[in-house]
Amino acid sequence: RFSQPEDLPLSGKKVVVTAGPTRERIDPVRYISNFSSGKMGYSLAEAAAALGAETILVSGPVDLPKPDGVQLIKVESAAEMLDAVVSQYGDADFVVKSAAVADYRPKEQHSQKMKKKDGDSSIALERTTDILKTLGESKEGQILVGFAAETNDAIEYGRKKLSNKNLDYIIVNDVTDPDGGFGSDTNVVTLLSRKGKTVPFKAMHKKELAKLLLQTILELESDDSN
Ligand code: CTP
Ligand code: CA
Repeated sequence: RFSQPEDLPLSGKKVVVTAGPTRERIDPVRYISNFSSGKMGYSLAEAAAALGAETILVSGPVDLPKPDGVQLIKVESAAEMLDAVVSQYGDADFVVKSAAVADYRPKEQHSQKMKKKDGDSSIALERTTDILKTLGESKEGQILVGFAAETNDAIEYGRKKLSNKNLDYIIVNDVTDPDGGFGSDTNVVTLLSRKGKTVPFKAMHKKELAKLLLQTILELESDDSN
């Protein structure tokens, strides 16, 4: 436990943040993953800790230092991320799911390196569990914040995800925006609330954006009409 100043906006609150990609193994030398850098999630965890929260960061494989004041749980696959997040969920006040979780994993994990064979052209895949949807189905007062990475019709898809996953907020990210997306130090997002608010943010550094997103969510939470 870290000592927490009493007078900060998230003092006494537990915030769970997920970040980075997941890695789904094919065999000992190969995997399926995505280009998520983890920067948005790490910035959100850093911002939550700076606002006084007990902060748990569940992270897939990324190349970033642990932010100050944050407890880091490292995971590799979607299944490991699910276990870690579920184990932290019961007493959480906020869960912010910025991880880019793989939607599919190889049906079989080979224990030895697969050899190429003439005629082979595909790997059988199966769906991973939707972690956020699972959390949404067992919500007991936690504020659930999801992300939506989209290339088109971002707000519309974001609203659908917000409602399908029983979220309180969703942060919609147009990953084709030249000022944002995977790997970039800056991001351009729109925050949508369950109650219908749409809050666009201008392009800014992910660290600055993280702070502003958390502050905006806290403001909307304290305002009953949000
Ligand atoms: N998510 C999750 N578990 C998964 C897939 C996604 O928890 N197996 C979460 C992500 O962390 C993110 C949100 O769901 O907060 C939306 O992820 P996104 O990839 O944008 O949406 P999907 O629901 O996976 O739909 P699609 O990829 O088809 O657009
Ligand atoms: Ca997805």
